[in-house]
Amino acid sequence: MAILRVAQMGHPVLRLVAEPVDPAAIPQDDFQGFLDDMLETMAEYEGAGLAAPQVYTSLRVVCLTLDPEKGPEFLINPEIEVLSDLVTKTPEGCLSVHGMRGVVERPAHIRVVALDRYGNPKGYELKGFPAVVVQHECDHLDGVLYVDRVDPLTLAFLDEFQRFGSLDQYLDDYEAPEAIADEVIELEFVADDDESEQPEAADGAEEEAVSVTDEGEDGPSSVDDAASDDADVKAPTTEAT
Ligand code: NI
Repeated sequence: MAILRVAQMGHPVLRLVAEPVDPAAIPQDDFQGFLDDMLETMAEYEGAGLAAPQVYTSLRVVCLTLDPEKGPEFLINPEIEVLSDLVTKTPEGCLSVHGMRGVVERPAHIRVVALDRYGNPKGYELKGFPAVVVQHECDHLDGVLYVDRVDPLTLAFLDEFQRFGSLDQYLDDYEAPEAIADEVIELEFVADDDESEQPEAADGAEEEAVSVTDEGEDGPSSVDDAASDDADVKAPTTEAT
């Protein structure tokens, strides 16, 4: 295990479209070791999410925490589908954009399908902050940073963010966002006749909702909610992302 360096905005690796992972490579020792390094790196920097390009590896792999009780997990070759018109505005930060925060509007109701660290299909229907984290991390796989999507009037250094909160509440056209409860529904994949573990298998498999986690209301961030660390996505209710 090793703590990896985190690329900072301006490094070209953060602007590449990352390559899909060959499912045959997933069980191999070097790839599994890389995943362990991502976990250790995320823990070291108290991120709630980390994408492989942030550690100079242009592969479609993200590590993130959707359910704090379950802990960090991997999404390999993830695919996102927006499920409704629900949107949310969240102050975000990024380990690759050191010391800043800014408010980003994103779809708040999505489905993501991917492979897990063992190459098995997995997926979630997500609402609220977990949907935001997935989109932030998956953006890294397409060379997109949150600052590309941020409302520029809300950009703030971390010290000022902690002092004043997200600035959108001071803007003339501010509207309090609709409170969206966080929701994490794990999809169950039933294996088709074809047992192949190609990424496409995730799309072909039948899905069924099996569990619901409702973590309650998740309103806009306040100064008090701001953690002192430099998170990858700033969460109203999550210490670090
Ligand atoms: Ni990030």
